Amino acid sequence: MSMVTTSTGVHAHGFEPLDTTRLSEILREHSRLPWHPLLERSALAEHYLRRWQEAHASMLLSEETSQHLSGCILESLPWDTQLLGMKCGRLFPLSDPSVPRTVDDRMLIDRAVRAMRDDGYRLIDCKIASTDLPLVRTFEDAGFRVVDMLVTMSIERELVQTIAARMQSRIELLGERTLRVDGTVIVRPIEARDFDAMRALARDAFSDTAEIQDRFFLEPAIDHARARDLFEEWFSNAVQKQHRGEGEVLVAELNGQAVGFLTMNAPEPEHHYWQDSLNAIAPAARGKGVYRALLLGTLHVVAARSESLLTRTQISTTRVINSWLHLGASLVESFFTLHYTP
Ligand SMILES: CC(C)(COP(=O)(O)OP(=O)(O)OC[C@H]1O[C@@H](n2cnc3c(N)ncnc32)[C@H](O)[C@@H]1OP(=O)(O)O)[C@@H](O)C(=O)NCCC(=O)NCCS
Repeated sequence: MSMVTTSTGVHAHGFEPLDTTRLSEILREHSRLPWHPLLERSALAEHYLRRWQEAHASMLLSEETSQHLSGCILESLPWDTQLLGMKCGRLFPLSDPSVPRTVDDRMLIDRAVRAMRDDGYRLIDCKIASTDLPLVRTFEDAGFRVVDMLVTMSIERELVQTIAARMQSRIELLGERTLRVDGTVIVRPIEARDFDAMRALARDAFSDTAEIQDRFFLEPAIDHARARDLFEEWFSNAVQKQHRGEGEVLVAELNGQAVGFLTMNAPEPEHHYWQDSLNAIAPAARGKGVYRALLLGTLHVVAARSESLLTRTQISTTRVINSWLHLGASLVESFFTLHYTP
């Protein structure tokens, strides 16, 4: 099998190194990628170009003679690959959602999948906006299957300030970074003494498919023990990010016990959104308003920095969605995640 080797890495046959000039043009015209309702086109383009350059991504574009552009970006996922024990990659479709689908899309997806399969990929994922059902169907026809549906909710910086001011009476400052919310739940940065219990919670909380429909546990090709490892590692990485100043991990304490956590990624260079990345409350403490308290504590932290907050969650995670929407968040986009497993 032939491959293209460049200074940035090895690209699956048929894929080429990123042509950033061409991609920049494409991204300024087409905006079906996640984040597009939140970022200006130029910021969106910058965001993805930086991300794909850092990931040494490759691209596959349809012939220049085609009536409209069809293309996709391939990002290999070394972290997922290592933890799940199977070669993982992600496709980002680039074609223009305003143009009726042509056979080009299907041919392109088939070419991409063939190349990735030949290159040893065993799990390919892809996120497609739920407003683009024709493309979802094209991916399904090519053998992809829907594994989850996600929504993005955001609270813009001005609203963060307004909500924080409105909620002030429910928050009591116990220390510089420790709050009591609604008189019962203490919200504070994680400490070393919390680490083992919270890591164990991260390991367990996402495997109960009656509680949360997470793609790593719903995908039959993934071993559950490995999916648990992945969440444990995700949590540990979030704590490392906090140490490096790239994020925050808050815990919620109820009756003197740490019963839940919420991890946030700090804003990337192109925007001002803190992103809620992982959160869970221990089963015995659920349904008592602990998550809501943790979210209020989070807003307080973000308000102090004059920044915005967003989260992505499964469409079926009603408690998280309720808390965000009841606080005043906007639901800004929705996606299908699809998997291909040869
Ligand atoms: C989802 C989870 C974090 C919620 O935590 P929680 O402490 O049980 O949630 P709360 O008691 O604070 O309730 C949150 C909101 O849901 C509402 N709610 C409570 N029970 C509910 C139910 N059975 N159905 C719908 N809404 C419910 C509450 O009224 C509250 O809304 P409000 O803030 O507008 O008042 C927790 O159940 C959990 O850890 N689940 C497993 C892991 C997970 O799904 N993580 C989320 C990934 S994004």
